[in-house]
Amino acid sequence: MTARANAVEVALPLDMDLGESPVWSVADQTLYWVDINRGRVFAWASGDAAPNEHDFAHSVGCLALSEQGLLVAEAPALVWLDPRSGERWPTNAVNPEWEVDGGNRFNDGRCDPAGRFWVGTLNPEDGGASLYSWREGHLVAAKRELRIANGLAFSPDARWLYHTDSPSRRVLRHAFDPESGELGEGKVWIDLDAHDLPGVPDGAAVDKEGHYWSALYGGARIARFDPDGQLLAEYPVPCSNPTMVAFGGVDLKTLFITTARQEMDQAALQRYPLAGSLLSLRVSTPGLEEPSVTRR
Ligand code: BGC
Ligand code: CA
Repeated sequence: MTARANAVEVALPLDMDLGESPVWSVADQTLYWVDINRGRVFAWASGDAAPNEHDFAHSVGCLALSEQGLLVAEAPALVWLDPRSGERWPTNAVNPEWEVDGGNRFNDGRCDPAGRFWVGTLNPEDGGASLYSWREGHLVAAKRELRIANGLAFSPDARWLYHTDSPSRRVLRHAFDPESGELGEGKVWIDLDAHDLPGVPDGAAVDKEGHYWSALYGGARIARFDPDGQLLAEYPVPCSNPTMVAFGGVDLKTLFITTARQEMDQAALQRYPLAGSLLSLRVSTPGLEEPSVTRR
């Protein structure tokens, strides 16, 4: 059964340039997310009127929950952040692409169900981006020759890893072994062309029934696919660039949606005044609880 299409609401009016990486902490009852281009981490506890903000010197691609609070993918390296005190500690995991050829920043990432952190990079022109996992102290490449690593998510049984190179407009599915962290070859699982869907697949989240909720950047909607990659529903959003989704709230049935203002001209911004805000949508199937980073 598909979810009743409730209305998309404004959770927080914001002017984010590139809002991304929403992650709900069940323990903290807090939504964390980033503005990549401004190098900013947001922490918004349930019931609070406004979020707390933590600024970084470089862009921040994504974040994950951890025992230390948060793990933040700041362009040069992964960093621990205590979102309560604002304190930071370095990790030994440097971005292997930051010091080479002008530097590819971090992009989409998340923690896998076994507590291992994964993060991709971005290199739209040359296709020199990669997807890494953090193991034995380093970021080790699992996929190469990408342009915009995005859409990373795992099936509820942790046997599938979903990932997209956004410009390809396809989401691949890889067989996944959570214990070893090894992935099989990627097979096309979702093809936006086949569904006549606009935009590119950006960030995503999986619900308890294994449905993949994908933010279509440039497509002004969220699309929901079943575990076989079939399109189930589309949820229009009031701006062209939704970037990623996360299930949160006490019942994990509030779908938070980050959005972007980047690359929009004045006319587009006037047409979509909500671009850059944090949006939300009530849904009928709860999301999966987000794991914390425990391996490194
Ligand atoms: C990237 C953006 C990009 C968007 C759509 C995001 O993950 O950070 O820079 O425009 O995906 O591909
Ligand atoms: Ca993204």
